[in-house]
Amino acid sequence: MSFTGTGAEPAGWLPGVSSMLYGGDYNPEQWPEESWPGDIELMRQAGVNLVSIGIFSWALIEPRRGEYDFGWMDRLFELLHSAGIRISLGTPTASPPAWFFHEHPEAKVVTRDGTTLGFGSRGMASPSSPAYREASVSIATALAERYGNHPALAVWHVHNEYGAPVSDCYSEQSTLAFRRWLQDRYESLDALNAAWGTAFWGQTYREWEHISAPAVAASVVNPAQRLDFARFTSNALLQCFIAERDAIRAVCPHVPITTNFMAGTCESVDLWKWADEVDLVANDHYLIAEDSRSQVGLALSADLTRSIARGKPWMLMEHSTSGVNWQPRNLAKRSGELARNALSHLGRGADAVLFFQWKASRSGAEKFHSAMLPHAGTGSRIWSEVCALGEGLSGLDEVLGSTVSADVAVLWDWESFWAQDLEWRPSEDLAHRERVNAFYDRLWRDQLTVDFAHPEAELAQYKLVVAPASYLLTQAAADNLRRYVEAGGTLVVSYFSAIVNEYDAVHEGGFVAPLRDVLGLTVEEFLPLRVGETVRLTLDAITGDVWTDDVALAGAEVVAGFEDGPAAGKPAITRNTLGAGAAWYVSTRLDAEQLSVVMDRAYADAGLVAGDGPDELELIRRRGAVAEYLIAINHGNKPVDLPVGGTDLLSGEAGESLKIEAGGVRVIRTDHRYR
Ligand code: GAL
Repeated sequence: MSFTGTGAEPAGWLPGVSSMLYGGDYNPEQWPEESWPGDIELMRQAGVNLVSIGIFSWALIEPRRGEYDFGWMDRLFELLHSAGIRISLGTPTASPPAWFFHEHPEAKVVTRDGTTLGFGSRGMASPSSPAYREASVSIATALAERYGNHPALAVWHVHNEYGAPVSDCYSEQSTLAFRRWLQDRYESLDALNAAWGTAFWGQTYREWEHISAPAVAASVVNPAQRLDFARFTSNALLQCFIAERDAIRAVCPHVPITTNFMAGTCESVDLWKWADEVDLVANDHYLIAEDSRSQVGLALSADLTRSIARGKPWMLMEHSTSGVNWQPRNLAKRSGELARNALSHLGRGADAVLFFQWKASRSGAEKFHSAMLPHAGTGSRIWSEVCALGEGLSGLDEVLGSTVSADVAVLWDWESFWAQDLEWRPSEDLAHRERVNAFYDRLWRDQLTVDFAHPEAELAQYKLVVAPASYLLTQAAADNLRRYVEAGGTLVVSYFSAIVNEYDAVHEGGFVAPLRDVLGLTVEEFLPLRVGETVRLTLDAITGDVWTDDVALAGAEVVAGFEDGPAAGKPAITRNTLGAGAAWYVSTRLDAEQLSVVMDRAYADAGLVAGDGPDELELIRRRGAVAEYLIAINHGNKPVDLPVGGTDLLSGEAGESLKIEAGGVRVIRTDHRYR
């Protein structure tokens, strides 16, 4: 959908918004109303121009079914509007009120082991509950009717983080909905029995009514059934979004509608499918605080978000100013980290930089979570960093709408991840995310910007495609990869890829069969390793662990073999040429450091050059209509001289080359002009 803007904003962006957005969740209902004007005055000081409100306010807005109390929200709208602050209006459906569950106990979520989840927290009702769908559509409609034409309203923020804290539900109503979904998908029980391979363990179904949600059973439940249930769950949540979206759109067609994703951290929703349903993409991201290189995980989430947004600018709807409250050890961000994090998101395509939350809560489960305005108040380090960031962003209007382009794609497919992570795989040390992270980390260190791509998506624009975890690879995806390589692309495939089809059935012809001619090999047998066991390779003294394959060559050349271990004497790293391109296979686990042995060679095939800056320097480029912007972030503890001429839009400094202090950030409008 495209919106008629005022002409001030870049195409496709929020109507009337021509500045970088800055702000966060604002929950003033937790505070006396007399404090609101003071909050808003401080927002202005910090440069805040957008806040998200109402996300958890259902019980206040609709105290009893059908009775609305909009008074406080009306006053809040006016206060924010008179201060020039725009509003992202939440629909409060992630937190149905007590009266709803009292009337509809059947709408509660039931977990896989049969536990019915209680009230007193937050969290979704069962996505398949008709009563929940009806109640959420009616509160969304009421909000749209009340505020749809308010000039402060900038964007609709439907629900909160679909898929968290729970996604799948095994209630009776979910089972009924699952059956309907299966009937649509398979049309006949014969087709379902064939797809699920129900001849195994005597599961053959003769009646639709006999099929249930895959609750905990005596042993492992049919993996094809589990995989379909994961697909069904993602779709059930999506239907909840669509129902609210359509209700709002019917009343308020002129304001964009989004919901906050958790790209890369919530695994239960297939965001490739969701991306087509939102007017613009928004994401939440929280660092894994104990990870000393947490900036790499942040970059991955931001790159994935941009990829889901099909390259268009997106909103960072939430991140934190410092520590969160829900990790085992909630490490505080150190001085400067707030700006480094925010600008890494911005560098990777975010045109809105928002936090959870504006003001630290005194009560409730999140009172130890950081905020823009912390408990320590305006004399604090966090407050001064928040204000400094607001001021910095106010000088970046010209960056708005500029885009990021990448030469490398990493394949990402939720369906494959759901299937791979089920039980009874050849080794419990296999984890799809571990391989994605390792390859991504290698590319991050090499300063190569990465898009993520679905395996069946167009890949022709990339010089290099990496498949770190493509356990489930459809024939259509394999054909796509073949076309990509034949046309001159370079492909790197890691072990345990192209093993099963969309029903989690091993490909006819065996492991890796659909890629046999692309990789020039098949895998005869998996040869997983013991805990702690390592194997030596015949190249650059590198060692692998976790996994080896018994590779049978069918045309590929051996770049490295195994010196020892169960695959001794067999190929470990191979390269095959096909048409104008080349395809690499890596049959053991190499860490991010050692992966350079493969990746440097693949870069040479792809005509890519790794960056030669220090390891801890993050460089990202955004291209605008008339200029290119280099976002340079120094995560190291030494200053770095950047041989790039231009003007730093954060500090106003200009020069032929610019120094970035340890821990510093620059957004450089480069002198380089392009057509
Ligand atoms: C997010 C959530 C917010 C807040 C935050 C704390 O996942 O959307 O409401 O709870 O976590 O980090």
